[in-house]
Amino acid sequence: MTHSPVSLRCPTERDTIALGERIGRVLARGDLIVLSGPLGAGKTVLVRGIAVGAGADAVTVRSPTFVLHHVYPGERLTVHHLDLYRLGAGADVRFLDIGGLLDSGAVVVEWGELADLSGHTPLRVVLEIDGGARVITFEDGSVPRVIAAWTRDAEVT
Ligand SMILES: Nc1ncnc2c1ncn2[C@@H]1O[C@H](COP(=O)(O)OP(=O)(O)O)[C@@H](O)[C@H]1O
Ligand SMILES: [Mg+2]
Repeated sequence: MTHSPVSLRCPTERDTIALGERIGRVLARGDLIVLSGPLGAGKTVLVRGIAVGAGADAVTVRSPTFVLHHVYPGERLTVHHLDLYRLGAGADVRFLDIGGLLDSGAVVVEWGELADLSGHTPLRVVLEIDGGARVITFEDGSVPRVIAAWTRDAEVT
């Protein structure tokens, strides 16, 4: 199933976390979200919200740029948080066993565009910096539940 891209403006960090929480509440085992955008775009902030939405403890969420993989065991769902930045472009990520991670929970990947994850039908989310705000766009809708949570109550730009 495909959807048109949907963009949302998050004026503050709090808004980005709240958006993540909405996503995290509907995320399910087997869902893969790929976050793209420059350093400081808010990818890790969004993951913090997602983990909270899945029932995990927000304080454990931090940038995995120097640690490839963090696991947040949520009350409802385990969230695997990957950051491929350090691996560089064209990375071979087979050693991460993303298929295995998807069997045990949802997977959210920062800098996922550096590797070929197309075999896992990811939901691609692009974050852009616009002054203090962040513009966050769903590129396609391979996880319709997440799109629905996104557009509900949302100020769509
Ligand atoms: N609207 C916003 N949404 C998210 N983060 C914001 C926003 N405004 C400012 N920030 C700041 O931007 C930074 C985003 O950092 P981070 O999430 O680590 O980025 P990334 O993981 O994309 O490199 C944080 O310091 C956060 O406080
Ligand atoms: Mg980050």
